[in-house]
Amino acid sequence: MRALGAPMLGHLDPDLLAMMDETREKLRRLFRAPEGSFAFAVSGTGTAGLEATVANLVTDGTRVLAVVTGYFGDRLAQVCQRYGAVVRRLDVEWGRAIDPARVREALAREAADIVCVVHAETSTGVRNPVAEVAQAAHEAGAIVIVDAVTSLGGHPFEMAQWGIDAVYSCTQKCVGAPSGLAPVAFAPSALARRVTCRSFYLDLGLLEDYWVRRKYHHTISASLVYALHEALTAIEEEGLEARWARHERHHLALAAALSAMGLGLLPPEGERLWTLNAVRVPDGVDEALARRDLLSRFNMEVGSGLGPLAGKIWRVGLMGHSSSPQALLLFVGALESVLRRQGYDVPAGAGTSAAIDALRG
Ligand SMILES: Cc1ncc(COP(=O)(O)O)c(C=O)c1O
Repeated sequence: MRALGAPMLGHLDPDLLAMMDETREKLRRLFRAPEGSFAFAVSGTGTAGLEATVANLVTDGTRVLAVVTGYFGDRLAQVCQRYGAVVRRLDVEWGRAIDPARVREALAREAADIVCVVHAETSTGVRNPVAEVAQAAHEAGAIVIVDAVTSLGGHPFEMAQWGIDAVYSCTQKCVGAPSGLAPVAFAPSALARRVTCRSFYLDLGLLEDYWVRRKYHHTISASLVYALHEALTAIEEEGLEARWARHERHHLALAAALSAMGLGLLPPEGERLWTLNAVRVPDGVDEALARRDLLSRFNMEVGSGLGPLAGKIWRVGLMGHSSSPQALLLFVGALESVLRRQGYDVPAGAGTSAAIDALRG
């Protein structure tokens, strides 16, 4: 917040451009991108990152195999279609991860140029095995686009090691900055498969001219660059592995607390995100009332279910700064309180006690 308030620099000011250079380097390290990648931040939110990635790799007739495990996989498939792709969908039951064998089978049946998949499906709390999907895609000669909007900075993400060709994310989740810039990275394998981009604003060549060759393309928000640069510095100070471990620790403590309260998470163990916890709403509980109560009485905002999961889950984010013992314990206590107010019987203090034990262990 302090970085946001720093005096404004012009979009071609050498000091801002130097900060943008450092931001590119920091993003390359955050994505663990391979040598020769182009990592930078698109002006706009995560959806702008999505669209920039697609707009530079998809054109009329591009064959896309879209793994759809929820709302955001569907969005990615839709955007590919808008840019002219022939999209084949691999739909998976909401709440479950893709089995990479299905990707392999689908590609054996019919070839594709691109496989796209969401790493952390925010609508269901599911983590997809993107390394295995990428391997299946590469074996069949396709490249892979990955949505890392809810994983970057919270879950291990190894672009080079996993062979991810192109990836986009956002700033407002586990990176811990305000929304408004979308980190993206293109590996050399993706840069080699660029198409003529129909969008002027999202054209990779023009954006490279600006970010690398200092040629005016658009007037970037200096304040958002300061904030992202500061957030990336904070990530490096904490250490990426330590940050991933923190997100895992608080997720596991929440899972233990929910279990002690007789509540459950939607995805099975092994497919769960650490960053977004999809909590099943127990029978007889008014989920919207509980959310309103959490917000008005405890200043805690949780998400509702989307699409087929509307009314069935709460989506509890433990991301970036909010993946903390303070937020976790306050949430567990607050949830117990709002459930009791609705007459839903929760063993007194069991959630808090289980979370404290988990945090101690
Ligand atoms: C997995 C995923 N992809 C894409 C988006 C879109 O990002 P934004 O809302 O920043 O445009 C979101 C937003 O929550 C998301 O969770």
